[in-house]
Amino acid sequence: MSQQLKLKKDVAKAALSYIEDGMILGVGTGTTVNCLIDFLGDIRIKGAVASSKVTQEKLEAIGIEVMDLNFVGEVDLYLDGADEVNPNLQLIKGGGGALTREKIVAAASKQFICMVDESKWVTQLGREFPVPIEVLPQARSYVAREVVKLGGEPVYREGFVTDYGNVILDTYQLNIESASDMEQRLNNIVGVVCNGIFAANQADTLLIAKSTGVEKLTR
Ligand code: 5RP
Repeated sequence: MSQQLKLKKDVAKAALSYIEDGMILGVGTGTTVNCLIDFLGDIRIKGAVASSKVTQEKLEAIGIEVMDLNFVGEVDLYLDGADEVNPNLQLIKGGGGALTREKIVAAASKQFICMVDESKWVTQLGREFPVPIEVLPQARSYVAREVVKLGGEPVYREGFVTDYGNVILDTYQLNIESASDMEQRLNNIVGVVCNGIFAANQADTLLIAKSTGVEKLTR
């Protein structure tokens, strides 16, 4: 097993202690979440709201009831990974392309615990990992031009369609001095469905796996 996979398993295991009997759990998407799902078969939750079709299938395969967010109301706890996290517990997400549903479930949850390994920790978001922007297909070129005006370099994610039938522009070189400000500016572009900066819906708690153990940060 690689060291990174070991850290993902470590942090997923640490997150289990926050799950209580009878909870409705929001479950994110990605390899860290997959490690979590591997542990969920033994936990007695009421059900789960999935942040992607892939996660839904994995949850159902282990017998967990997947609920429609519209009929659940508030979710007790949202557990998900991230592509980058800064010291304010603001995130870039969407490497797996599930950013919109992830942001919806995060917003509808009482608490968001983000699980990462130490490779995801950065001082400023977006210097290395691009910001994924989900865009209505018809608006792709227009949004790309507007993103360039903000200093970004958008790259069309070829051959990828989101669960909602949209496309993704992975955007490099954005100067994200204020994550909240950039999140808002991107949202203001007509045709943008959602962007991968999680500032308004940042994590409440960060679990970060290091070779020395799992550390917890709370805002
Ligand atoms: C998917 C995501 C994931 O949380 C993010 O890409 C991290 O993935 P992983 O746990 O595989 O490193 O935002 O849209």
